[in-house]
Amino acid sequence: MLVFGTRPEAIKMAPLYFALKNCPDEFETVLCVTAQHRQMLDQVLKVFGIVPDIDLNLMKPGQDLFDVTAAVLTGMRSVFNEHQPDAVLVHGDTTTSLATAMAGFYAGVPVGHVEAGLRTHDLTAPFPEEFNRQVTGKVARWHFAPTAVSQQNLLDERIPAAQISVTGNTVIDALMWVLGRIDADAGRRAELSNFIDARLPFDWRSERFLLITGHRRENFGDGFLQICEALKELARGYPEVHFVYPVHLNPNVQGPVNSLLEGLNNVHLIDPLDYEPFVYLLKHSHIVLTDSGGIQEEAPSLGKPVLVMRDVTERPEAVDAGTVRLVGADRGRIVSNVAELLDNEDSYKSMARAHNPYGDGKACARIIDVLRSF
Ligand code: UD1
Ligand code: UDP
Repeated sequence: MLVFGTRPEAIKMAPLYFALKNCPDEFETVLCVTAQHRQMLDQVLKVFGIVPDIDLNLMKPGQDLFDVTAAVLTGMRSVFNEHQPDAVLVHGDTTTSLATAMAGFYAGVPVGHVEAGLRTHDLTAPFPEEFNRQVTGKVARWHFAPTAVSQQNLLDERIPAAQISVTGNTVIDALMWVLGRIDADAGRRAELSNFIDARLPFDWRSERFLLITGHRRENFGDGFLQICEALKELARGYPEVHFVYPVHLNPNVQGPVNSLLEGLNNVHLIDPLDYEPFVYLLKHSHIVLTDSGGIQEEAPSLGKPVLVMRDVTERPEAVDAGTVRLVGADRGRIVSNVAELLDNEDSYKSMARAHNPYGDGKACARIIDVLRSF
């Protein structure tokens, strides 16, 4: 049984779902979504053409961590009682993953953790994700670590080596699948272009633009204020550059972003994009400014410089390679780093290098090999 609930989990579990479904003689695959996210989850299910077997449909507007944790935990009790899976696979660090792993532990269902072993070693950043992934790691039977760094983090926590496999990150499997579909079909590229044209009033194919996303809880309040002030300063200082921001549906993000950034001609606040147009836009962007985990993994493989609006990251591989830089949710650092990349071609070139530290597109096959051997 695969269980997920949010946009990034769905993107990263979709290729694994299909890979398991392709082995019907070996695995009976059941998909349960919690719908911790509703609209943003459905956007991903639609792109991949996935229909879940079970849908807990638990999102409430403005939900807090208590709401989601309790609803997933009790929801999964019933699901496990009814379906009795031989194993449950969860992903990463969301509350859906934490509470499903706990439910699996209580119900005696072995847990496989996809994207295991990422660590900042700071329970406050990202909050509550660092806690979620540490606790999920505590109960997991199989740890699918994307990189050697994440494998070492798990070994340092005395997890037996035999329970850890380095698989690469399934996000690269998903990205390659979507890019392959886009590259192979001129008609689809035209459709995507029309879709984006309808949302952006400038020529995003030729003009320079920054692609921006942000949603971390630890940035709520002052962090988002600083981010928006930085964007305002940059938009005024670089009137010929565009700033495209698909705004996360969390009301704690929508509120400040919409009120602080309205009325600037070159700042484009749009709804969250479906995964395929988002990837297409990412491919055409000049610089990426984000606090997202998944985008830190995708952008390097497209050769886009990424400025991460966080002080720490659990994804150090691309920082070490020099294509991702941490700038915090700090007005001054965001402005100076973006300005440097816009003004200085050498700085830009040194960060705009395509590389794939997070995977080779074969993570799902490796995960299935491990499951098969059990
Ligand atoms: C969650 C995850 C975070 C992940 C992020 C990806 C936790 C604790 N957080 O954070 O790790 O990086 O998803 O985006 O698990 N909303 C909608 N429609 C949607 C999605 C969200 O309206 O499709 C609004 C709702 O008001 C909802 C709120 O956003 O109550 C917060 O959603 P929630 O999943 O609790 O938190 P995220 O900040 O999205
Ligand atoms: N993404 C998307 N549409 C958007 C913004 C992001 O499809 O408008 C994708 C992005 O490519 C990445 C994932 O969503 O794969 C990241 O999700 P998010 O930032 O919500 O969560 P995180 O990765 O930080 O957990």
